Amino acid sequence: MGSKIEIKARLNGPYLVPGQATYTDAQGNTHTSEGKMIALCRCGHSANKPFCDGSHKKVEFQAPEVVLQVSVESSE
Ligand code: FES
Repeated sequence: MGSKIEIKARLNGPYLVPGQATYTDAQGNTHTSEGKMIALCRCGHSANKPFCDGSHKKVEFQAPEVVLQVSVESSE
């Protein structure tokens, strides 16, 4: 059974994805994010990709706000 999540592309800012993420870096180390929301860079200028580090403000990134409703299928 699937579920739906809402991903927000903030006005002039990052993608906000609800929940925690577990990810593996280029060295093969696994990390788990903190907090209830993940901010993913969409400007391309973050020094901490794929995460937003606030650099979009310095480069005056401009993009509209968008809300995506995403259906997620369970793989279990
Ligand atoms: S969107 Fe924030 S650093 Fe790229």
